[in-house]
Amino acid sequence: MIKSLIHSFAVCPDMQKEYPKISFGKGVYLYDEQGKKYLDASAGSCAVSNIGHGREDIKQVIQDQLDKVAVLPTHAFSNSTVESYMEKLAKFPIGGFAKAWTAMSGTEAVENAVKLAFQYHKVKGNTTRYKIITRSFSYHGNSIFMLDIGGIESRRKMYSSWMKNFPHISAAYSYRKEASLTEEAYTDFLVSEFETCILKENPNTITAFVAEPVVGAALGAAVPPKNYFKKIKNICEKYDIVFIADEVLSGFGRTGKNFGFENFDVVPDILALGKGISGGYFPLSAVVASEKIVAPLVKENSAFLGGHTFSCNPLGAAVGSKVIDIFKEEQLSQNSNEMGKLLRAGLQKLSQKHEIIGDVRGLGLQCGIELVKNRNTKEAFPAALNLSRKIGDISLQNGVVLYPGKGSVDGVQGDHILISPPLTINQNHVHEILASIEYSIEKAMANITTK
Ligand SMILES: Cc1ncc(COP(=O)(O)O)c(C=O)c1O
Repeated sequence: MIKSLIHSFAVCPDMQKEYPKISFGKGVYLYDEQGKKYLDASAGSCAVSNIGHGREDIKQVIQDQLDKVAVLPTHAFSNSTVESYMEKLAKFPIGGFAKAWTAMSGTEAVENAVKLAFQYHKVKGNTTRYKIITRSFSYHGNSIFMLDIGGIESRRKMYSSWMKNFPHISAAYSYRKEASLTEEAYTDFLVSEFETCILKENPNTITAFVAEPVVGAALGAAVPPKNYFKKIKNICEKYDIVFIADEVLSGFGRTGKNFGFENFDVVPDILALGKGISGGYFPLSAVVASEKIVAPLVKENSAFLGGHTFSCNPLGAAVGSKVIDIFKEEQLSQNSNEMGKLLRAGLQKLSQKHEIIGDVRGLGLQCGIELVKNRNTKEAFPAALNLSRKIGDISLQNGVVLYPGKGSVDGVQGDHILISPPLTINQNHVHEILASIEYSIEKAMANITTK
């Protein structure tokens, strides 16, 4: 019997299970219908509720905009709320971006970013370029096209007959690099693999390279080596390949900077944004493009062939604009940076006591741990054990929501847990999260042997 219809569509479905029903949220907490309180250390479906739940200031902004207008015939009109938000959004990241426009989901944002790169090449006369290079263990959305460019095998395989199977290169995943390689040598290996892939495919067939600055759900906050993106960008420039940063998860303060790329001394050509852009108060996402990409389209008067019914929606723009104000006023990226350091220091301490924590990683409040059976060999637990899920379930019972994930070794084996709380958390919340992780690991491991 299907107990909950929501979970027949969700990412980690257990259609037999009765899930607690949340009645409201306030700050970093969610409250179920029985009055039980949960610290949302996932922040919605992972890194969404960056500004916290139940905010009165956002409610007011939505109310005010509803009093004006909620939706427009955009083929006929523009709107000041929308126009000023697009300008504000394009100016929010460092790097002098030129244009922004919104859609509804992260999937649409990355797909629009890729289409924009395609059109950029077309107007420049590069008519043979259509391939997109991405990395294994990457997630860029759930449409067929985004699954095709994405690198999570378990999500792709059901639809493989619809896919073009674009090229994938290795993820930048230092924890599982060959032990003999230094970070710099590993970086060079990855960059050389990228260039080899381009040459093998023929550079004149490649449109864009898409990457998450810090890998989110697929690898539990894997941070690339320091110089990785700089060297990757150099290769992109060498072959006129558009560099798209998928900032859907790592954007909006998640990594301790306003955007993930800002940690790596590099500026992408196009950003795809989502999740935290609205803090979850409106289904909002966006594409932000640099002058380099926009200029040829303007010159040729070639309108971008994107657009959805809810693109550039005034309600979304009002919410998005307020979120940027909140970021600045409450210094949320700084808090993410500081609380993230505290959280990782606590996780490191836990790892001294609990050998199964093989790696503690992340930037800002995009934090992760990888769980291993043997810390020296990095051997994973059997996939059938569902260890990360077990720990997540115990923590949920204990009142702290984590984001467990699987497949970090080979797509099937490998347990990791992503911890991505609202960026409004304080030290007490960090300690509450750490205590729950420790309790849940101890409880889950009570009947499991690592020998
Ligand atoms: C890095 C990344 N890109 C794209 C997406 C797709 O976003 P959405 O689920 O809003 O379509 C996600 C969602 O988790 C994501 O983490």
